Amino acid sequence: MLYSHLPSPTAAPVCRLRSLRSVALSVPDPVASRDFYHEVWGLSAVDEDGDRFWLRATGTEHHVLDLRPGDQNALSCISFALATPREVDDAARALEIASIPMLRDPGPLDDAGGGYGLQLVDPEGRTIELSADTFAVSTQEPAGRRAVPRKIAHVVLNTADIERTAAFYTQVLGMRISDWSERQMAFLRCNADHHVIALNQAAWPSLNHIAYEMTSIDHFMRGIGNLRAGGITPQWGPGRHGPGDNTFSYFTDPAGLVCEYTSEVAQIDEDSWLCRTWRRTPELSDQWGTAGPPSTTIRSAMAGIPDLGARHLVTAPRADYFVGIPEPAGVS
Ligand SMILES: [Fe+2]
Repeated sequence: MLYSHLPSPTAAPVCRLRSLRSVALSVPDPVASRDFYHEVWGLSAVDEDGDRFWLRATGTEHHVLDLRPGDQNALSCISFALATPREVDDAARALEIASIPMLRDPGPLDDAGGGYGLQLVDPEGRTIELSADTFAVSTQEPAGRRAVPRKIAHVVLNTADIERTAAFYTQVLGMRISDWSERQMAFLRCNADHHVIALNQAAWPSLNHIAYEMTSIDHFMRGIGNLRAGGITPQWGPGRHGPGDNTFSYFTDPAGLVCEYTSEVAQIDEDSWLCRTWRRTPELSDQWGTAGPPSTTIRSAMAGIPDLGARHLVTAPRADYFVGIPEPAGVS
């Protein structure tokens, strides 16, 4: 299906995404979330400004999580890396031609992580940041046998229109669909990782969960053990998914948002990979047979609350730009 507000399928994407850098979350109590991610989850608090906090993993990004105060839980921004400031400028020109709204024109980012970037708004109101030349940090080796995340592996987004949202992320942002899980989920990559974004067809747009990559399956299990020692047990997992072949174990943070430890994400060879559609059977969703079905509690946390994002900040969008959200009465 073609969408009139998107570039024609023959047009090149506006940019080439290199990697997923970070996610910004708005939560009512950012101090509680900071304490959880810093003291329990394994991230390190790297900077703060009032009640805004930046936390890093052990990889190359200045930060992977940006916590901000908000009236209710919301996904504030997803940040992707471009290679150079020139690519940011080129993306801005292409976005303008395609009538895709930008919240922020290209320029220096006054954020804790520095860099040069822009922000655009996707058809469900999510803010997407494209940045280059962010501050360098040295990678950190975990002390001793402590298991801590290396980076954000993926973000799963609930969408009210998976076909249209997938079309945006592939046609505009140049992502590739690695696999489908029936027509319920789409797994999108921007580099060799099987997916950095997954879309889940749902009643409304919201954050489903954020996955943090552990360096090995041994660290994945040790991480679960660290949490268990603190009285925190997985709400779903451990197990190994079919699509992406990655391990999973899901928890909820103090805001009620879902966070995941994962490891061993499948690596894709662009020249030989063929997208498949997975059937949604227990054997394919949970290859080891260890996790069982997700509980109603974790399903509810993954559904979250409707998140209209930055729609209200976009002045005079094209009439057909934003995806409509079904009335609550239509929600099953
Ligand atoms: Fe996940």
